[in-house]
Amino acid sequence: MKHKIILDCDPGHDDAIAILLAAHHPDIDLLAITTVAGNQSVEKTTRNALKVCSLANIRHVPIAKGMDRPLLRPARHAPDIHGESGMDGPHIPEPDIELDSRHGVDLLIELLLNSNGDITLVPTGPLTNIAAAMRREPAIVPKIAAISLMGGAIGLGNVTPAAEFNIHTDPEAAEIVFDCGRPITMVPLEVTHQALATGEVTARLRAAHRPVASFAADLLVFFASAYHNVFGFPAAPVHDPCAVAAIIDPTILRAHTMHVAIETTGHWTTGRTVCDVYGKVGKQPNTRVGYALDVNRFWDMVINTILSY
Ligand code: RIB
Ligand code: CA
Repeated sequence: MKHKIILDCDPGHDDAIAILLAAHHPDIDLLAITTVAGNQSVEKTTRNALKVCSLANIRHVPIAKGMDRPLLRPARHAPDIHGESGMDGPHIPEPDIELDSRHGVDLLIELLLNSNGDITLVPTGPLTNIAAAMRREPAIVPKIAAISLMGGAIGLGNVTPAAEFNIHTDPEAAEIVFDCGRPITMVPLEVTHQALATGEVTARLRAAHRPVASFAADLLVFFASAYHNVFGFPAAPVHDPCAVAAIIDPTILRAHTMHVAIETTGHWTTGRTVCDVYGKVGKQPNTRVGYALDVNRFWDMVINTILSY
């Protein structure tokens, strides 16, 4: 069965891998890509989405630029991880795909309102676009089949000890989304840190001598160097395709259902996904929180899809 999805992203090296997976996997019907300010400015994340789709000849998917800053807070980016362009490393040709004229939030609303409630949203950046769409047009909420998002952490964050980048960047947007009442799968750092792009992964991609696979390998090599410099990681955790993989094969993720709240006021803890693992807060569970990934199946899915370009 093909899953209809909209990928809302901030490319971003790992977002680019998520685009390649979503656009070519046989079980995914990628309806649109919407971009948001996150890893870099929305101008840069949008340009990067156009460049990835041009290079990979993904021409059937509208790409629409979304919000240029969080709902309330100033924009913050991650040049230490993704570089000044947001996708430093490989040389990528100028895009030859036109940007859709609609605003990303308007495209989300249009596609959801015109759907029969079978679209899954896959946010892999800050949740600004999703929250803005819900506020602008509340009628879309019951039309969302499900949300599979990369973001948050059960424990340690990556921007502060308490918070992961996507949630920390726009906690007010995350609070709106986590409170929306629709089925949410949260793919946190505990899962994505298992999705390490080791030398074996990049070697499998390069061995094919195919342009898109070699491009993906180049992205992962840069991403790995950034993660080593900043966090001392031995390889790059490729966060965002995990949220797509969880739709393709829900059994690839082991998860528990629990209540997740978003901290928006803590001095040290703003942006934290407060995961009620032991059911102590007395609130209805609202999220399926991943905690383990079938790593071999994940990489076979990602690599085989990228080799299909
Ligand atoms: O914390 C990791 C997340 O933040 C990933 O989605 C990465 O692309 C950045 O958006
Ligand atoms: Ca991202």
